Amino acid sequence: EPEVIRDKAAMRAWSRRLRAEGKAVAFVPTMGFLHDGHLSLISAAAVASAGPVAVVVSIYVNPSQFAPTEDLATYPSDFAGDIRKLAATGVVAAVFCPPDLYVRGSAGQPPAAGASRGAVLCLEEDGGHGHETWIRVERLEKGLCGSSRPVFFRGVATVVAKLFNIVEPDIAVFGKKDYQQWRVICRMVRDLDFAIEIIGSEIVREADGLAMSSRNVHLSREEREKALSISRSLVSARTTALKGNNHSQQIKDQIVQTLTGAGGQVDYVEIVEQESLTPLERIDRPAVICVAAWFGKVRLVDNIEIQTP
Ligand code: PAJ
Repeated sequence: EPEVIRDKAAMRAWSRRLRAEGKAVAFVPTMGFLHDGHLSLISAAAVASAGPVAVVVSIYVNPSQFAPTEDLATYPSDFAGDIRKLAATGVVAAVFCPPDLYVRGSAGQPPAAGASRGAVLCLEEDGGHGHETWIRVERLEKGLCGSSRPVFFRGVATVVAKLFNIVEPDIAVFGKKDYQQWRVICRMVRDLDFAIEIIGSEIVREADGLAMSSRNVHLSREEREKALSISRSLVSARTTALKGNNHSQQIKDQIVQTLTGAGGQVDYVEIVEQESLTPLERIDRPAVICVAAWFGKVRLVDNIEIQTP
């Protein structure tokens, strides 16, 4: 059974104790409602160091990465199920479940009315007594998901920095499913000298190819079937590229057509360089094709890497 820790100071003390015992602390941040994608990150964390490792997983639905119009209120959760799955891995030593990570309202006062969902973090709404320090990874946070979700990466980078300061891990694992997120965190760690090794872990898919996501539970049967067009179009795009057609525009057009034909609403289809995420007109260096599309009320993201000679 993993130890459930809710208090920030207790989390930091736990981590320092295990490190003093000679263990590397390997950290997997999540928003819960765990699936096999999350569990694969945990497996990667458990073997991330040659010596003994203590794996800690956090479960925290971070309000600051949701815009007021987004799905914070309906984000799925299953705490008991999550703990069961984490216990079953046999490798998770601690689960960090903070009740809240942001200062709300003025000191000692309850949060302002309406301040309990996402909007809490707007200074205007709490008279400036709330959170006001943000991390922006200025170039990488723009484009791709940053275009339709302008405060998303600011919220992610900031909460991950907070979690890093509380957990003080040696290693942290992120999924390539959220490719831009992984790159944003790598860049933040490099730019701000966090002494943490970041590991990017491969995408875990359902048997039919759909990338696992906590949000998949909101797809109807029909929408889920249509959403398979995402992974299928990505695989066929990679085949096209590897056969020698390296014109990004043609490949993107093909993907957009497939997704639209399946009834999806495309947010973006982009072909970018793997590390800088700058758009490529031709796939002539290591690239990644990134897609975000709506199926019904669910926004799904997926991507596929293309290693070129
Ligand atoms: P969440 O969506 O719960 O994802 C937690 C981690 O699991 C992320 O690193 C994500 O990329 C990874 N992940 C999700 N689905 C995956 C899949 N199918 N295959 C591989 N990895 C997968 O991402 C977040 O939470 C939050 O933004 C967070 C980093 C916790 C900050 O709040």
